[in-house]
Amino acid sequence: MRTGVIIVAAGSGERLGAGVPKALVPVAGWPLVAWSVRAVQAATGVSAIVIACPPGLEAQMAAALGSGPPVQAIVPGGSSRQRSVANGIAALPGDVEAILVHDAARPLITPDLVDRLTAGLASSDAVIAAAPVADTLKRAGTDGRVQATLERSGIWGAQTPQVFRAGVLRAVFAEADEDELDAATDCAGMAERRGIGVALLDPGTPNFKVTTPADLRLAEVLLGAVHIA
Ligand code: CTP
Ligand code: MG
Repeated sequence: MRTGVIIVAAGSGERLGAGVPKALVPVAGWPLVAWSVRAVQAATGVSAIVIACPPGLEAQMAAALGSGPPVQAIVPGGSSRQRSVANGIAALPGDVEAILVHDAARPLITPDLVDRLTAGLASSDAVIAAAPVADTLKRAGTDGRVQATLERSGIWGAQTPQVFRAGVLRAVFAEADEDELDAATDCAGMAERRGIGVALLDPGTPNFKVTTPADLRLAEVLLGAVHIA
């Protein structure tokens, strides 16, 4: 299946506080975003990769990624994650059969995970990486005190990559209004709202999002052990 990939890398990384956009922060020898690009380049069937980048930093992003098939396009991101995805969709070639959306902030993505997700499109319009929540869930007030313990069974944490049949994701975004593009936090949620079935796939390996300096240190340790050819 010809897959077009969108890597959203246009966030500022406020919580990381590195002084440069999060996607460009070095991790184990590569800019954070480059780990995701390398993984999707090595996956099966990927025919195009679009990277949504902080506006004005396109040249810096191109330099950080270097070259390599398939040809990459770098587009300016939007003011919200979903607007960055929308810009990416607009830049993908019309012939892709699947669209995979991934956060540059999740560098532990593997080619095998991409392959397993796209294989799932044989029986579902959408397949997303996600993991069952292991902690007991509490609802708390602003005073930091527990109000209630929540039922945990059946609760999953959504991750990326998220892959969709191309026509399905294009239709979802064509319907979305400005408010939805500002408020939605992932593509699967936008699809679910329209009755599209979304399958969950547990990667079975760490796939956390680098949000804080502690996350960055953990990613550094895990990726430092990966051999780079
Ligand atoms: N993202 C994006 N465009 C935006 C906002 C976010 O492309 N306008 C991307 C980020 O680059 C990241 C992913 O969406 O890869 C998930 O966002 P998050 O982890 O929140 O990253 P940041 O928004 O950069 O971090 P922060 O919220 O701490 O500023
Ligand atoms: Mg953010």
